[in-house]
Amino acid sequence: MTFGPKPPEGGDWSAAFGHAPVLLAETMEFLAVKPDGLYVDCTLGGGGHARAILGRLGPNGRLLALDVDPEPLEWAGAWGAGDPRLTLERASFGDLAGVLSRLGLGPADGLVADLGLSARQLLGAGRGFSITRDGPLDMRLDPDATLTAHEIVNHYPEYRLADILRRYGEETAARKLARLVVEARERAPINSTHELAAIAERALYRPGPRPRVHPATKTFMALRLAVNGELETLSRFLAQARSCLKTGGVLAVISFHSLEDRMVKLALRGEAPGPDEGGPIAQAWPKSKRGLIRKARTGRALTPGELRAPPDPVRAFRPLRRKSVRPTEAEITANPRSRSAKLRAAEAV
Ligand SMILES: C[S@@+](CC[C@H](N)C(=O)[O-])C[C@H]1O[C@@H](n2cnc3c(N)ncnc32)[C@H](O)[C@@H]1O
Repeated sequence: MTFGPKPPEGGDWSAAFGHAPVLLAETMEFLAVKPDGLYVDCTLGGGGHARAILGRLGPNGRLLALDVDPEPLEWAGAWGAGDPRLTLERASFGDLAGVLSRLGLGPADGLVADLGLSARQLLGAGRGFSITRDGPLDMRLDPDATLTAHEIVNHYPEYRLADILRRYGEETAARKLARLVVEARERAPINSTHELAAIAERALYRPGPRPRVHPATKTFMALRLAVNGELETLSRFLAQARSCLKTGGVLAVISFHSLEDRMVKLALRGEAPGPDEGGPIAQAWPKSKRGLIRKARTGRALTPGELRAPPDPVRAFRPLRRKSVRPTEAEITANPRSRSAKLRAAEAV
């Protein structure tokens, strides 16, 4: 595989790869890398976070970096060549516990997951992630995976298509869009990203000024999440993250999608989803003392928004910050793709 010219000595490897790391300083502050520690970068990409960790490790420290896409691993072979502290593995972070055990590596001092895809993948020819660049309907992060967006768009029944658009894209016009996709594919297969974007644009058209984001944005996001099983993988990762960390170790997750952020928030707080997040109402608790007093006084049933799930009796994590950390205006201006990023971090207890 060719990557073009090697960056000059001391050059900017992230820029050369085509992906600027997001919330880098903030992530490093939470990780507080110990020079002799073991760290895992679960999503290597252009290696921005990985290189920052390596830069803080001493000669006995160790970094394991994973990616499902072979290209970032090949790229890291260039910038990390000969560094005995760096281990590169083509694997999913959904299988992290198994990977650590296979490599004989103990629990880690820190895990970083910067979810989704890199700018290089988004803009790469032939990957089918971008609405604006025409390409085949592919959207696989792992090029050896079997399921593609083409298969979903052209072969899934209408109800499953609508479910994907509603669940992963939070698309309110999911049923209408699914119907138009099925009508279009009955005339001819939908082969390209531009064909799909045009159908979505027609289905989601609203009179008035042109919207700031392309109307097919949610459609593309939903398909990508479905093709790669991203929410399911995140759920598996969050369930095993504690067992992969030492007590006192840090988990830092950067997400770009509200469903992902909700999953991370709940996992780090040790909570099941509350009634306003789709969880069961039966064992729910009032969110505040005020709610409890009001219920006792008036006898009125509390609304889902006033209830939360009971806390998990075995806490796995202590959040390092109650709220998510967002990029500064300066970062957003320099790297507009960071706009929707949210960083959450917690300490294993
Ligand atoms: C946003 S990029 C990471 C960028 C990186 N932090 C940097 O600063 O350059 C996300 C990367 O995670 C990879 N990825 C996505 N899902 C994955 C999974 N389940 N397991 C491992 N890597 C995954 C993608 O292929 C992509 O290279």
